[in-house]
Amino acid sequence: MSQPSLGVPILDEGLAKRIESGLEAVEVRLREAAESENAFVSEVARHLIDAGGKRFRATLVLLAAQFGDPDAAGVVPAATVVELTHVATLYHDDVMDEALVRRGEPSANSRWGNTVAILVGDYLFARASDIVADLGPEIVRIQARTFSRLVHGQIQETVGPRPGVDPVEHYLQVVADKTGALIATSGRFGAMLAGAEPVVVNAVSRACERIGIAFQLSDDLLDIASDSDQSGKTPGTDLREGVRTLPVLHALTSASPEDARLRELLTGDLTEPGRHGEALALLRAHPAMDRARVEALRWVDEARAELESLPDVPAKAAFQALCDYVLERTG
Ligand code: IPE
Ligand code: IPE
Ligand code: MG
Ligand code: MG
Repeated sequence: MSQPSLGVPILDEGLAKRIESGLEAVEVRLREAAESENAFVSEVARHLIDAGGKRFRATLVLLAAQFGDPDAAGVVPAATVVELTHVATLYHDDVMDEALVRRGEPSANSRWGNTVAILVGDYLFARASDIVADLGPEIVRIQARTFSRLVHGQIQETVGPRPGVDPVEHYLQVVADKTGALIATSGRFGAMLAGAEPVVVNAVSRACERIGIAFQLSDDLLDIASDSDQSGKTPGTDLREGVRTLPVLHALTSASPEDARLRELLTGDLTEPGRHGEALALLRAHPAMDRARVEALRWVDEARAELESLPDVPAKAAFQALCDYVLERTG
């Protein structure tokens, strides 16, 4: 029932133990939150929670809480809230992306259909709101604004850049909103609810937003470069769905004749399996991948700069190590 080991590396043994025990408490709360008086709703709501996941956002809450009193009453509920919000967005995201696999299991939409997946995602949002209500109006408002940013990011991704808007700028805004916002709030909640100084709260939150942007850039690279054993998802989903991530945007700007075939594929129908496979193979070997990696590195460097002012406790080193993890992760 508990997550057996940390999904992200924490070197300091004492800190790792504290985070692990916090995560165990979060696991209990997550499963409580998935319970419903209706057995079918419980089953679907538990589905992705039981399937695993890194619990990255909950870990960030617990780590950020180390800058104050990590045992403060609101910390574990806040970690549960961000993780519930995240998992709910996955129910919805897989509907939007027509994804069949999530966390190495059939997605909720592939198992029970879109309507059930959407409604159970809503149910999990409602359960998160129930918990957040106990944390006070300030936390409720931050949660609402975070969710608003996340939704705007998802909408902007769907709509695409308006004419005249730089596609790379549009993409980075989408990434900051759909992923950076919740990861920034994870850090903010942890530090705030542990009673850390406001300057620490803000630095942790800004660092986490940048870590979150790099995390999504890595995820987009993984969608092209990984296999599904690593990610628990179907590679090439972004391409198939027509979501132009950074490597694609860079490849499209290439004027080189040897990229003509890739450009033709990327601007055409990528739902056709042969074309999709060919585009994926060409992209994997393309220098645009390294350009996107450099962009991820830039955000991690910005995160590191935000971390510098933080007090020298083991959690600071853990955040610094997370910066490397985000760039190197394979799943
Ligand atoms: C997936 O997030 C969605 C993104 C924002 C990239 P994670 O990679 O944290 O997914 P889980 O929770 O480990 O399954
Ligand atoms: C979705 O991004 C991020 C969310 C806010 C849910 P992706 O569509 O890239 O996430 P994955 O790859 O499906 O996990
Ligand atoms: Mg997706
Ligand atoms: Mg993805």
